[in-house]
Amino acid sequence: METITLHTKHTTYQMGILEHGFLLHLYYGPKAEGEMDGFLSYYDRGFSANPYELRDQREISMDYLPLEYPCYGNGDHRSPAFRMRTADGVFAADLRYQSSRTVPGKYAIPGLPAVYAGDQEAYTVEVLLEDKASGVEVTLLYGVLPKLDVITRCAVVKNNGTEPIFLNKAASMSLDFLDGDYELLHFYGRHAMERMAERTPLCHGSQGFGSRRGSSSHQHNPFVILTRPETTERSGCCWGVSLLYSGNFWCEAEKDQFHQARLQIGLLPEMFDYPLAPGEVFFSPEAAMAYSGKGLAHLSHIFHRLIRRHVCRGRFRDVRRPVLLNNWEATYYDFDGKRLLDIAREAASLGVELFVLDDGWFGVRNDDNSGLGDWIVNEEKLDMTLADLSHQIHRMGMQFGLWIEPEMVNEDSALYRQHPDWAFQIPGRKPVMGRNQLVLDFSRKEIVDHVLEAISQVIAGARIEYIKMDMNRSISDVYTAVSGYQNYGTIMHRYVLGVYDFLERLSARFPDLLIEGCNGGGGRFDAGMLYYTPQIWCSDDTDAIERIQIQHGTSFGYPVSAVGSHVSAVPNHQTGRSVSLHTRGIVAMAGSFGFELDLNHLTDREKEEVREQIRTWKDCWSLIQDGLYYRLHEPSRHPDSAAWSFVSPDRQEMLLNIVTLDTHANCPVPHIRCMGLDPKRQYQELSSGRLFPGSALMHTGFPVPVVPGEYNAWQYHFIAVN
Ligand code: GLA
Repeated sequence: METITLHTKHTTYQMGILEHGFLLHLYYGPKAEGEMDGFLSYYDRGFSANPYELRDQREISMDYLPLEYPCYGNGDHRSPAFRMRTADGVFAADLRYQSSRTVPGKYAIPGLPAVYAGDQEAYTVEVLLEDKASGVEVTLLYGVLPKLDVITRCAVVKNNGTEPIFLNKAASMSLDFLDGDYELLHFYGRHAMERMAERTPLCHGSQGFGSRRGSSSHQHNPFVILTRPETTERSGCCWGVSLLYSGNFWCEAEKDQFHQARLQIGLLPEMFDYPLAPGEVFFSPEAAMAYSGKGLAHLSHIFHRLIRRHVCRGRFRDVRRPVLLNNWEATYYDFDGKRLLDIAREAASLGVELFVLDDGWFGVRNDDNSGLGDWIVNEEKLDMTLADLSHQIHRMGMQFGLWIEPEMVNEDSALYRQHPDWAFQIPGRKPVMGRNQLVLDFSRKEIVDHVLEAISQVIAGARIEYIKMDMNRSISDVYTAVSGYQNYGTIMHRYVLGVYDFLERLSARFPDLLIEGCNGGGGRFDAGMLYYTPQIWCSDDTDAIERIQIQHGTSFGYPVSAVGSHVSAVPNHQTGRSVSLHTRGIVAMAGSFGFELDLNHLTDREKEEVREQIRTWKDCWSLIQDGLYYRLHEPSRHPDSAAWSFVSPDRQEMLLNIVTLDTHANCPVPHIRCMGLDPKRQYQELSSGRLFPGSALMHTGFPVPVVPGEYNAWQYHFIAVN
């Protein structure tokens, strides 16, 4: 069989071209030379139909063969990657292989985020498929990054026919496996409790999750892992897929009648109905895939490296982010310039580098009922201009940052009174309200232009080094008055393109700006957003103990550099729990570190501790951000203590972090089995000076001190001595 093979350093991916141009998926796994068609089996299967040309060969059916980009209409009744409809309402497609070629470098996608790499670091394979009857072409793009062991995918659909068609589904990737003995690891959650890891066996039928909220969502993350049942952090086979997209998506894992598995991710097909006139082209969002034969930790490391160096862009990609203080939980809407300066002064004196003014500085906004859309500084409330405020903060030695929520509008705002038709609302119906706000139709360029201009003027009018870009409700009532686009079928996607356009143009205009993403915390925490914003506020839940679990789930697909993480006040505002400043600091250090409280309220001893935390985070920054992150506890198996570590790439250093989650009388001693150390070296723990063999740290495990009290935390720095 003619094959197309992609090799990375440690993995191989192979497609095969069956007679008459059916494109099969043959292999994705550890590096292997040679052809994989010998693993296929052909049998005459009941109720599995045959292509017309092969009707005499009843053992050939698309219904069970592993397919590269399955389409609805050629006899495959499993979940398709591609489904289109003609203007007459006919669902049909039969995509057949035409040609393929390899070009140096990594493809880009117009208007959408995509992995990038130098021409020496990547190559692109283009595989052209065609549906003869309609003239529709689908080009499958594969970006191969050999050194990273990553393969990206994107489908480009072109209507080369004479009649319009409607795209109903165009997944970013589809992966078929010859057996079904897998488990699905995915990341579900809710507002203030995002990305909880859940692992379930693959069962017959489909398991799906996604978002129909307009953002990638708090509820399900567009990152998924398929593992073998025996796979652990330390060993075993697993495949990860990350969708670079921040809106409605759908991920589906299917186990078919012959116990074979199929994994897909892409745009949500539900209510997706995208017209393509003759000559028009559609690009799917990109999916990045990786295979690890060395367990989940290694798979995460691949995605961490990919996102850090080949997704995040701009000046802040590689440099240490400033330690920030955000006033939200310190003041909420209740502030004036003087109060802010009081908070800022204390922060500056303790070593904070960036002061962020959150919600409430613009329009008339003293609660969440009004003001969104009016990006005009409320000088009356501040009792000074924004330029003055920023100037005074800079004089304290800090940078200055600002919160925005560009996609939203309150009914009680000048913008809404002037342009009520700019918000999503359906004529004749009352819109669903979320936090008392409506969503602006960012699929319309004139609306993006207006908001971008208003916000740019604010940024240009004061010295502003940082922006927190928020989005605080799910999208509903989708309708736009612009003719031709009245339907949900395109707008939810065009909306996301509008958000990306806003971010692209904002960064082009202010290239030195650090932009942090946010969506009521981590409701839009995805690799697409990280292309524009190198860090994202991980969750509105700042309780250190809950954060451990949120950061644990987040770490499977995303690097710590992407995680905005702050020390906040106790009792915690979300849970009412009190945890020591020491523990809060250690948890927040596993991210882009900051504070979210009025430091004036701390005792002198606590203030000294804040100084120390900032020093430690700055000293350990390169180990934390460039080191390899290891999850050292499994929440369901280790309910009493959590642990994670950062190990330098040369295995010379380790920062081990431990937090006790429960306390018991006469407590057994938990041992934390470290990972990623050099078994032949001795490691010295700096606070005690004691030596530990690397092999034994990984085998016996480091003993957790048994000390009475709740939520104790330890941070141990180990250095290899020989
Ligand atoms: C969202 C964010 C918070 C804060 C508020 C302001 O909830 O996640 O951090 O910025 O909005 O309204």
